[in-house]
Amino acid sequence: MKILVTGAAGFIGFHLCKKLLQEGHTVIGLDNLNDYYCTSLKLARLAELGIITKADSGYHLPVKSQQYPNFTFHKMDLQDRENLPALFKTYQFDLVCNLAAQAGVRYSIENPQAYIDSNLVGFANILECCRLYNIKDFVYASSSSVYGQNKKIPFSEEDRVDEPVSLYAATKRSSELMAYTYSHLYGIRCTGLRFFTVYGPWGRPDMAMFLFVNAIKNEEPIRVFNEGKLERDFTFVEDIIHGVSAVINDAAADKNSLCRIFNIGNSQPVKLLDFIEEIEKQLGVTAKKNLMPMQQGDVNRTWADSRPLMERYGYQPRVDIKEGIKQYLQWFEIFYDN
Ligand SMILES: NC(=O)c1ccc[n+]([C@@H]2O[C@H](COP(=O)([O-])OP(=O)(O)OC[C@H]3O[C@@H](n4cnc5c(N)ncnc54)[C@H](O)[C@@H]3O)[C@@H](O)[C@H]2O)c1
Repeated sequence: MKILVTGAAGFIGFHLCKKLLQEGHTVIGLDNLNDYYCTSLKLARLAELGIITKADSGYHLPVKSQQYPNFTFHKMDLQDRENLPALFKTYQFDLVCNLAAQAGVRYSIENPQAYIDSNLVGFANILECCRLYNIKDFVYASSSSVYGQNKKIPFSEEDRVDEPVSLYAATKRSSELMAYTYSHLYGIRCTGLRFFTVYGPWGRPDMAMFLFVNAIKNEEPIRVFNEGKLERDFTFVEDIIHGVSAVINDAAADKNSLCRIFNIGNSQPVKLLDFIEEIEKQLGVTAKKNLMPMQQGDVNRTWADSRPLMERYGYQPRVDIKEGIKQYLQWFEIFYDN
């Protein structure tokens, strides 16, 4: 297939592009390379895919991969209502996978506008292009944050999702609703994937995994929110990518269902203090912990019921946190320490 992946320089987008290219698809990657976190990491991910470019490189122009002949990258913004339709017209995609978004719960407390711009306006622009250029299949990233402070565990797609406790969560839920409308009105097959705390090599530096490892290695204190009384369904990126790829490769087979939403998690929540302890054990260092109150917008626990995705697509998370942390630390050492 010819597939558009937005957010291609991002953590999950990079891994997905690599997988789809290895599977033989033609991939067009799009990303605005914004500086929410260091662009050098985004450029390094692109370089790993054979795209040699700079943060201030030519806007919207195609950059060909030097490693994968069927990979082309465009630096472009989802808000760009002029060049985005032109991109769709040029390539005539078989499937669009939208991962580009303003991510991060905590940042949304201080910078709500970034979420409106990318996750609402940008998301609507992508859907509009799908409508105008007859895209049959649209797969997009949603988030476990839509469940808010859901008390029922594990979280099921049937649970209520109308009390988001951060603007990030509200924009992700809004994306799901917009996708529903486009599937209903225009027959675009839309599949939303609610990711649960993704971690692993090439991970985001604003997330706990990096913040903990970096601080511990530098003998600095780590901030432990809600005094560590948090649980997260940490999901290794490779497992996530297997799930997303299964959905993409089989999207067209599900003729009867136009609008679907699936949880994609590890389904084994881990206490934050146990997560930290495993990092400490593997690094051989005890962390200095600053116990902090609960952060605004945060939720106490996430726990995915991923059975529908397992039953429908054979999704099976395989990597536990011990192995996942090991692989992350190996990458961290090569990328940051050397
Ligand atoms: N990583 C997680 O744990 C997690 C959990 C739940 C949901 N998600 C969702 O998964 C998706 C990918 O997340 P990620 O962790 O790879 O984040 P990321 O920030 O690493 O990747 C997102 C990419 O999108 C790009 N982008 C942002 N706004 C854009 C815009 N307006 N136009 C073009 N590009 C833009 C960014 O430059 C970035 O490279 C996001 O939609 C995120 O909300 C991630």
